[in-house]
Amino acid sequence: MAKVVLGVAVGVAVAACAVAALVVGRRVRTRRKWKRVVGVLKELEESCETTVGRLRQVVDAMAVEMHAGLASEGGSKLKMLLTFVDNLPSGSEKGTFYGLDLGGTNFRVLRVELGGQRSSFDRDVAQQAIPPRLMTGRSEDLFDFIASSLQHLVEKGNDSEQSPIIKELGFTFSFPVKQTSVSSGILIKWTKGFAITDMVGKEVAGVLQQTLARKGLNMQVAVLVNNTVGTLALGHYHDADTVAAVIIGTGTNACYWERTDAIIKCQGLLTTSGGMVVNMEWGNFWSSHMPRTSYDIELDAESPNPNDQGFEKMISGMYLGDIVRRVILRMSQESDVFGPVFSSLSVPFALGTPLMAAMHEDDSPELTKVARILKDDLKIPDLPLKARKLVVKVCDVVARRAARLAAAGIVGILKKIGRDGSGCIRVGRTRSDTKMRRTVVAIEGSLYTQYTMFREYLHEALHEILGEDIAQHVILKVTEDGSGTGAALLAASHSSKSVDNVQLL
Ligand code: BGC
Repeated sequence: MAKVVLGVAVGVAVAACAVAALVVGRRVRTRRKWKRVVGVLKELEESCETTVGRLRQVVDAMAVEMHAGLASEGGSKLKMLLTFVDNLPSGSEKGTFYGLDLGGTNFRVLRVELGGQRSSFDRDVAQQAIPPRLMTGRSEDLFDFIASSLQHLVEKGNDSEQSPIIKELGFTFSFPVKQTSVSSGILIKWTKGFAITDMVGKEVAGVLQQTLARKGLNMQVAVLVNNTVGTLALGHYHDADTVAAVIIGTGTNACYWERTDAIIKCQGLLTTSGGMVVNMEWGNFWSSHMPRTSYDIELDAESPNPNDQGFEKMISGMYLGDIVRRVILRMSQESDVFGPVFSSLSVPFALGTPLMAAMHEDDSPELTKVARILKDDLKIPDLPLKARKLVVKVCDVVARRAARLAAAGIVGILKKIGRDGSGCIRVGRTRSDTKMRRTVVAIEGSLYTQYTMFREYLHEALHEILGEDIAQHVILKVTEDGSGTGAALLAASHSSKSVDNVQLL
C-alpha cells in the first residue's frame, strides 16, 4: 500500500514538474518574443534619431540644394520651379474672381468677392472628395468633373454663364509643373497617388480652358499656380511679412519669394518687382543626413514612383500611416503577442494617417481608441494593453521624425534667404536680435492643422534649431483654405497685367 502511495506521489510530482517546466518554458518563450517586439521598437527609435546636430545638417543640405537648383536646370533634386508670380496680392484688389483647387484628396471650387480692402473679403466654397477612379483614369474625365463642379458654383451664385464678361479664374494645380507663363505650364509628373498618364507633358491650363469652353463656361484661366503659391498669396494678402509658404498634407512642398538675380539658371529674367515666387517642390528633396529606415526603403520600392519624392515619403500624410503599418507588421511577424499575422496588416495603406494620429493622441488610460482602430480597421482584436502602448510609441516615433524634418526644411529656406539669424550680431554669448526681421511663413495642410502632436513636435524642433532668441521672430501662420483662395487673389492681382511684368531677355 505504502509503495502504491509513494508511486502516486512520485507520479504527481513528476507531472507537476512537467507542467511547471511547460509553464516556465512558455513564459520564457513569451518573454523572449516580447523582447524581440521591443527590439523592433528600439531599432526604429535608433534609426529615426533626429538630434539637433543632424537636423542642422539637413538645414544646410536644404540651403545648398536650393542654390544648386537655382543655378542650373537639373542641378539638384530640388526643381526650384519658376512660377512667373512676380507680385503678391496687396489687399487693394477688387472684383469677383474664381478659384479652383485640385491636388489633394479633396477638390474645391470657390468664388471670392474683393472690395478693395482686406476687410471687404467674401467667399463661397464648395468641397468634394475626388473619386479615386478619376485619379488614375483619363484626363478628360477628371477635367469634366472639375468643370462641372465649377459650373454648379457659377449657377448657384446667380452669375449668368452667358454673361459677356469673362470671369477670371485662378487654377491651383498641386503637382510639379514647368510654368511657361503665369497662366500656363506643362505637367512634369504626378505625385500623391495620381497617375493619369495621358496628362504628363500636357499644358495643364490649356486642357482646363478647352473643357470650360466645351461646357459653355465663359471663363479665363488667369493664373495657374501650385498650392504653396496660393497659400503664400493669401498669407501675404493678410500679412506683408510673409516670405514663404509650406504645405504639409497629403503631400508636402514649399515656395518662397526669391530675388530674380539669384535665379541664375534663368539669366535675363526681369520683373518689375525684382523678385519672383519659386516653387521648390521640396517633396523630392534628399540628403544622406536624413534618418532612413528599412521601412522607408520598402515603402519607396513598392511605390509607383521609386527614388522619387524622398522627403515627401518621410513627412506627408499620404505615407506616415503606412510606415506605422509596416512597423506593426514586422512586430507581428516577430511575435504572436499580436496574435496570428493578420492579413489586413499586409494591405498597403490599410492604416491611413488620420487613424494613426487618432491612435497617437488617444489619452484614455486603457487606450480604448487604439483598441477600436486596431480591431475595426486592421482587424486585430484583443491586443493587450502593453502591446497597444507599443503601437502608440511607434506612431510617436514616426510622427516626431516627420515633424522635425519638416522643421529643418523650413529653417533651410530661412537660411537661404538670410532669415535664420546667422547674420545677426553676437553680443557676448547670446545673439542680438536687433537685426532679425519679423518673418512669417504661411502654412497649410491637415498634418499641421489637425495633428496636434505633429504640430507641437515641429514647433519644438524649430525652436531647438534656431534657438529661442531667433525663433521668437519666426511666425508660422495658418492660412485657412489659402491654396484656393490665394489662387483667386492672384487671378485678381494678375488680371489686368497678365504676363507683361515678366520678361525673359
Ligand atoms: C506636389 C506639390 C504639392 C504638394 C502639396 C506634392 O506631391 O508635388 O506640387 O505642392 O504635394 O500638395
